[in-house]
Amino acid sequence: MSGTSHIKTTGLTVMGIETSCDETAVAIVDDSKNILAHTVLSQIDDHADYGGVVPEIAARQHISNLDHLIRRTLAEAGVSIGDLNAIAATTGPGLVGGLMVGVMTAKAIAAAAGKPFVAINHLEGHALTARLVEDIQFPYLLLLMSGGHCQLLAAHGVSNYERLGSTIDDAAGEAFDKTAKLLGLGYPGGPAVEAAAHEGNPTRFSLPTPMVGRPDCDFSFSGLKTAVRRVAEACVAERGALFPDDRADICAAFQLAMATCIEDRLKNAITLFRCKTGEERLPLVVAGGVAANQYLRHRIKATADGSNMTFHAPPLALCTDNGAMIAWAGLERFIRDPDINDKDFAPRPRWPLDSAAEPKVGSGRKGPKA
Ligand code: KG4
Ligand code: ZN
Repeated sequence: MSGTSHIKTTGLTVMGIETSCDETAVAIVDDSKNILAHTVLSQIDDHADYGGVVPEIAARQHISNLDHLIRRTLAEAGVSIGDLNAIAATTGPGLVGGLMVGVMTAKAIAAAAGKPFVAINHLEGHALTARLVEDIQFPYLLLLMSGGHCQLLAAHGVSNYERLGSTIDDAAGEAFDKTAKLLGLGYPGGPAVEAAAHEGNPTRFSLPTPMVGRPDCDFSFSGLKTAVRRVAEACVAERGALFPDDRADICAAFQLAMATCIEDRLKNAITLFRCKTGEERLPLVVAGGVAANQYLRHRIKATADGSNMTFHAPPLALCTDNGAMIAWAGLERFIRDPDINDKDFAPRPRWPLDSAAEPKVGSGRKGPKA
């Protein structure tokens, strides 16, 4: 994959390691926006029986798989560790066991090879991915929707993000996953709900659209999940069981409600973003695993078009967790600070992109969860 860049290319190459959740991923990217190699090992089968990610299992799988994945990625890229300019790894937010595996491995390689280690915020990896595949300049409006997060941010520059809104309870991906679990559609829920919704009638059930009409840019999805449970229970009471057409109709109604919420919140964020930047036509970037959903992408693009914003979304494989986004974020930071070396930076299970913003969910001694 390649593209034009405003970044001056000098042949810099960075390896990125991602182990914050249930994907072990490694990639090597250069400053001409080439992804030289890109490997992802999903642990879906290891967690499927539990209906969600089990942190201890995830950490063990990362330990078992990371070394050979790094070796394979280097071989596929045709480069040696000595050819790399830096080693980047997701250092937070995420599950601490997995983060430790990725960070310790990256630091060990960096120290042994005399290369800098770059600590990457996983959310910044998602935030910058669109710049790996397209020539998008700052500032842009970012809608970040993943398994653990749902936020609207003004991206002013690398390491410079301003939160405009955020979920006050569940993340968008979490709502998909919980809906899938309730309906017996398995894990991970997003792709399963999307596939079921394809066959469904979105108007048979009416689901709530929390926060719609409010003047801010925040989200709330926990009520939607409760409403899904209520509707599913009503179906079982009426027909004795949940049938495939019930599931399909509930999923279609769920996606419709979610799109309505996102559209409404996004319109407020566009107005706010314009006030902050003083510019009318700017990029809208969607990122994170939920951005892989075709129906939501389509609806968000329509909102962007109707609001005179340009729409940008990474290809599907770069929406869900991957190593290329971490390598690219590492490269962006290395280019701006060639003396960077985060070797003393410890894993941070909680690490907001905008540290100045008030936490909306799970604030605690160690900082906000989302
Ligand atoms: O970004 P990601 O891979 O990992 C996190 O950083 O959380 O996002 C994972 C989330 C999961 O909740 C998954 O169900 C959701 O993204 N997801 C989707 C789709 N593909 C993945 N949600 C809706 N539609 C999809 N096609
Ligand atoms: Zn992610």
